[in-house]
Amino acid sequence: MVLLNPSTLRQDFPILSRQIHGKPLIYFDNAASSQKPRQVVEAMVAYYYQHHANVHRGAHTLSVEATELYEEARRKVARFINAPNPESLLFTRNTTEALNLVAQSWGRQNLKDGDEIIVSEAEHHANLIPWQLIAERTGAVIKAVRLTPEQRLDLEHCQSLLSSRTKVVAIAHMSNILGVVNPIRRFADLAHSVGAVMVVDGAQAVPHLPVDVQALGADFYAFSGHKMCGPTGAGALWARAELLRAMPPFLGGGEMIRKVYIDHSTYADIPMRFEAGTPNIAEVIGLGAAVDYLSGIGMQAIFEHDQALARYALERLEGLEGITLYGPRGDDRGGIIPFNLQGIHPHDVATALDSEGIAVRAGHHCAQPLMRALGVQSTARASFYFYNTEDEVERFVEALVKARDFFATFA
Ligand code: ALA
Repeated sequence: MVLLNPSTLRQDFPILSRQIHGKPLIYFDNAASSQKPRQVVEAMVAYYYQHHANVHRGAHTLSVEATELYEEARRKVARFINAPNPESLLFTRNTTEALNLVAQSWGRQNLKDGDEIIVSEAEHHANLIPWQLIAERTGAVIKAVRLTPEQRLDLEHCQSLLSSRTKVVAIAHMSNILGVVNPIRRFADLAHSVGAVMVVDGAQAVPHLPVDVQALGADFYAFSGHKMCGPTGAGALWARAELLRAMPPFLGGGEMIRKVYIDHSTYADIPMRFEAGTPNIAEVIGLGAAVDYLSGIGMQAIFEHDQALARYALERLEGLEGITLYGPRGDDRGGIIPFNLQGIHPHDVATALDSEGIAVRAGHHCAQPLMRALGVQSTARASFYFYNTEDEVERFVEALVKARDFFATFA
């Protein structure tokens, strides 16, 4: 059962009326980036046309207005993930930058030779490479939680990796490939049992399900605006305020200081300490509008809609000869369907689907260790959002059958 009424919501997204190769666009690449409603674009246009000036700097009216819009967005985004206060919500460009901030700032101060960082073999490179960079500098060691045969993260394996050397457990809230929502609270309890911090890559979760950073037991929680109806260039890092207050700056420059001398400086309190230079003001205001938009629909309704589409797609695809579907089945599965068609490269599958107006991603999806664990080079991936429909899933299945039969003639 699909709960939302996508036909009304779709009217907010002009791009969804486009034709691609003469066919109505079916946008199934939402895990890479979502489309944007008018409300978000209009909030950014209104800011540029009526209120633009630099923030936190001027006594003049426009600067005060811009600052108020920017800080109002911070309050909205903080409320959206149930952060206890807005000052520990930092704006970054995206999840990648947020996770690099944690690794470089917290990691530089807290990691030493022989310390251990636990990730999983399903992590996006954004939650792996920042840890590799800081591990190289500090001598820390990275270990990875493996998958169970059902392709869920193996909590028991995580437990077996823990020791007094463990300083960080860094796990995605929802896999960008397998679509599974990971039990972050349980990982956080494991991390805390040995005094480690729990770092969460929330890039796929915040756009698709209700997120409560306090209930999850997260210490750091990173996400991107552009996957949740916001513009590119605005993401966020939430962290427990006492952790942030103890951390050194990540980037230096204007806005993040208290006193500056030629040979040293003192730094501003949070959040300013971590927002050096002129921020992406319009994008942050757009992200605030995206949060209003998503809240108006309801995150639980969005998750249930995604799940219903995923269940429907899996039912329709299961019987298709030559298809391999990845990811576990169950209530912990969101709206992401990774798959391969036997003997056809995923890029060819994606190109064939594009000729039918259907946008999917193909490749390693920035998760090469997971591809290795699955025993493949790459997959195709369809990923849904609240504006997608069962009819679109039907057209997608028909187009896949057509592609499979077309390529079979060359086999
Ligand atoms: N992280 C994005 C994806 O998985 C880009 O497609």
